[in-house]
Amino acid sequence: MIGQTERILELKRLRENQNEPGLNKIFAFTSGKGGTGKTFLSLNVAYSLAEQGKKVLFVDLDSNLSNANIMLNIVATKTIYDFYTEKKLLKDVITEVNPNLHFVFGDSGKLNYPDAHDGLIFKLHSQIISLQNAYDFIFFDTGSGAGKSIVNILLKAGSVVIVTSPEPTAVMDSYVMLKLLNAANFKGEKFVIVNKSIGEDDGRSTFNNLSIAADHFLKNSLTYLGNVQFDMVVSKSIIDQELVIKKHPESEVSKQIKGIGDSINEITHMANIHHTAIIQHH
Ligand SMILES: Nc1ncnc2c1ncn2[C@@H]1O[C@H](COP(=O)(O)OP(=O)(O)O)[C@@H](O)[C@H]1O
Ligand SMILES: [Mg+2]
Repeated sequence: MIGQTERILELKRLRENQNEPGLNKIFAFTSGKGGTGKTFLSLNVAYSLAEQGKKVLFVDLDSNLSNANIMLNIVATKTIYDFYTEKKLLKDVITEVNPNLHFVFGDSGKLNYPDAHDGLIFKLHSQIISLQNAYDFIFFDTGSGAGKSIVNILLKAGSVVIVTSPEPTAVMDSYVMLKLLNAANFKGEKFVIVNKSIGEDDGRSTFNNLSIAADHFLKNSLTYLGNVQFDMVVSKSIIDQELVIKKHPESEVSKQIKGIGDSINEITHMANIHHTAIIQHH
């Protein structure tokens, strides 16, 4: 859970970020470095929010190396590839895994997989915006790396969620992503999750290291969403192709993930109340 002061600051910034309707619903998970837990966390947090009655659209944007369907043990019959190759509209490649949790699955290993060039990202964005009324949250799971197409996708989200591990290499790569977002004039919110931590203190000190550097060198303000500890239950659940939060809801990891979902929910809810109040006031 985040503190009251952090929440108020969050609210203030989100209020200033009401430039495009729907943008505040979009959370893009990123990291720079591979294997920090973006797919695992975005899926489990999405599931947690859906379980609380929120409608969530999960878009797997890890181009040509999609994992979300594998983690869920689902054979994706409709994928974003059909949208990219102009065979289908985005709404026609949505798979309803349960009434509250919808997916746009990615594709894997296509030799002619299109590059996510600006035109494609623009098209993706405009179709997402046209669908946004049907959802409370839209999650993007992105691939690793710090290329132009990933940054361009992140620019289409109201918030980025940086998933880092406590390792200095992962923290450094997170910093690089922040630097690239700054250079690209990203105006949204920047959240951080520390995954694979040894404990709460480890999570907090990892966040502090990143946050101090971002504040000092980039004039960026980061918001901590919490930590998820390293636990064998995670790799076991991935091997079993089950979501940990579904299979082991009482595990510490699942409680931490639920806390992160609750924070995202709370921040968005408060921002929406303020947004409505501002509209009514004008
Ligand atoms: N909290 C955790 N505890 C233990 N292992 C984890 C944890 N989070 C992720 N992992 C391991 O890291 C691997 C990579 O996770 P993944 O979500 O695929 O990363 P990314 O999408 O960032 O590349 C997983 O297959 C899992 O084995
Ligand atoms: Mg991934």
